[in-house]
Amino acid sequence: MSRRIVGAMMATVVSGMECVGQLPPEADPPYIPTSLAVLDVMLEMASVASGDTVYDLGSGDGRIVIRAAERGARGVGTEYDLELVERSRANADSAGVGESVEFVHGDVFEADVRSATVVTLYLGAEFNRRLRPRLLEQLRPGSRIVSHGFHMGDWEPDSVRNVGTGAARATLYAWVVPADVGGFWSIVIEGRETTVLEFDQSFQKIDGSLGRASRTVPIAAGEITGDSVEFEAVLAEGRGRGVFRFEGRLDGGRLAGVARGPDGGALAWHAVRFTDPSRSPEWRDAPDRFPPDGMP
Ligand SMILES: C[S@@+](CC[C@H](N)C(=O)[O-])C[C@H]1O[C@@H](n2cnc3c(N)ncnc32)[C@H](O)[C@@H]1O
Repeated sequence: MSRRIVGAMMATVVSGMECVGQLPPEADPPYIPTSLAVLDVMLEMASVASGDTVYDLGSGDGRIVIRAAERGARGVGTEYDLELVERSRANADSAGVGESVEFVHGDVFEADVRSATVVTLYLGAEFNRRLRPRLLEQLRPGSRIVSHGFHMGDWEPDSVRNVGTGAARATLYAWVVPADVGGFWSIVIEGRETTVLEFDQSFQKIDGSLGRASRTVPIAAGEITGDSVEFEAVLAEGRGRGVFRFEGRLDGGRLAGVARGPDGGALAWHAVRFTDPSRSPEWRDAPDRFPPDGMP
């Protein structure tokens, strides 16, 4: 069935421009506009403000990008239906935001989203799944993605909102793009020897371990929000033993922050990446002495 026919069929499901349509998850997404009420919640979930650059992939008549521009953001829409692209440009001019927006006649799978701070989607589960690697590769940590109606497979949303009732009910999903922190770090915790921090990352969730080869403790409750990292680990030696809550930020390839212990004391910590220690000859000879002190 052609895109146009599916589009025409879906258009009969909704009764006008302000209705919220229910897209079939697998089909090529037809043109069904997001209602203004739902659209405002999407922009709110992404905390859109001036300074943001909002990309709507599959931008329809341009309404999301135009609304974002009315909030002071810049906006870019990508849409493969030329008539809708032209309508979007006219709508932007009528709204007085023509200078702040751009509408590209093109395919969402070829869109360059590197300058986006926010990406909005109303496409379909399969489209989201296929777009996900591109979004994770191109968007900077801390960028937000909001999807009307569809999730991102096993990348769990950071927030979900249900809006409207009855036929106009919509579920909205939002994610914050996490920094890539997976792998091995050489960590110095104030007052302690240099040791190993290993992060096993799955999107915004991290687990892993802290410690040298034979003396590791698991890390728990690990989360990444943009450039910020949080996790818990038990420190058995030194000042204020017990569960410490580590909070840090990634900046220029270096993680640094504070670990708060059970007695409320705070220890500064910092870490730099190193390659898998098991690949190092020094590690094979003396795993308990790896990484060497003073490495970060
Ligand atoms: C459900 S509408 C959403 C429109 C708008 N984002 C909104 O929320 O009001 C999906 C839009 O994506 C467009 N579209 C579908 N596949 C596309 C593709 N591969 N590249 C660009 N646009 C596409 C359709 O023409 C349609 O306008």
